[in-house]
Amino acid sequence: MASSTCFLLVVVLALITSQAIASDPSPLQDFCVADKYSPVRVNGFACKDPMAVNADDFFKAAMLDKPRNTMMSKVGSNVTLINVMQIPGLNTLGISLARIDYAPLGQNPPHTHPRATEILTVLEGTLYVGFVTSNPNKLFAKVLNKGDVFVFPQGLIHFQFNPIYDKPAVAIAALSSQNPGAITIANAVFGSKPPISDDVLAKAFQVEKRTIDWLQAQFWENNHN
Ligand SMILES: *[C@@H]1O[C@H](CO)[C@@H](O)[C@H](O)[C@H]1NC(C)=O
Repeated sequence: MASSTCFLLVVVLALITSQAIASDPSPLQDFCVADKYSPVRVNGFACKDPMAVNADDFFKAAMLDKPRNTMMSKVGSNVTLINVMQIPGLNTLGISLARIDYAPLGQNPPHTHPRATEILTVLEGTLYVGFVTSNPNKLFAKVLNKGDVFVFPQGLIHFQFNPIYDKPAVAIAALSSQNPGAITIANAVFGSKPPISDDVLAKAFQVEKRTIDWLQAQFWENNHN
């Protein structure tokens, strides 16, 4: 191989590798506790003076052992997310935690986390879970029981459903971002403000415009706190 071709290959490979970093960046110091009052705008939060950092910056009395109310939720679930907004010490560390409570027959509806892969374990009950790949859309689904673990790859649409009519379920999930973000599909599509044109949605979903209007008239609540 000519040395110029070889050089070009190295440059292209280097470009590909540098562009593949799509998750939270790696820390360049032990910690960078979020300084939420800093006027500095950076990706994430500016660092608080390390001399002013204490153990409470890495702590939250979150009571994740306590069941959350699922009765008020139309979809029958309640997500308690502990991200950088709750624990400033998570800034730049690329991780967060959630507890999810499911009513009998409750679900955490199809959604994606644009910035995180999720690993979930069932603490109580049973969950039917799954994710769908990008085109072509293949479903990977599974029934999980207490102690089972499942992974939802970054950015892919996924859901959890409690199929048991008389028992609640509880899961704990870890996510690979200090701020995973959540896009609930139905809410984003039918509940955006201002709304997406019903001409667009009628064609996209292959239904009549009045079906879209009916969907857009529903109350699309968030099951995340
Ligand atoms: C989740 O549960 C908490 C406490 O149990 C309650 O205050 C909150 O309103 C619930 N959130 C939703 C979205 O139902």
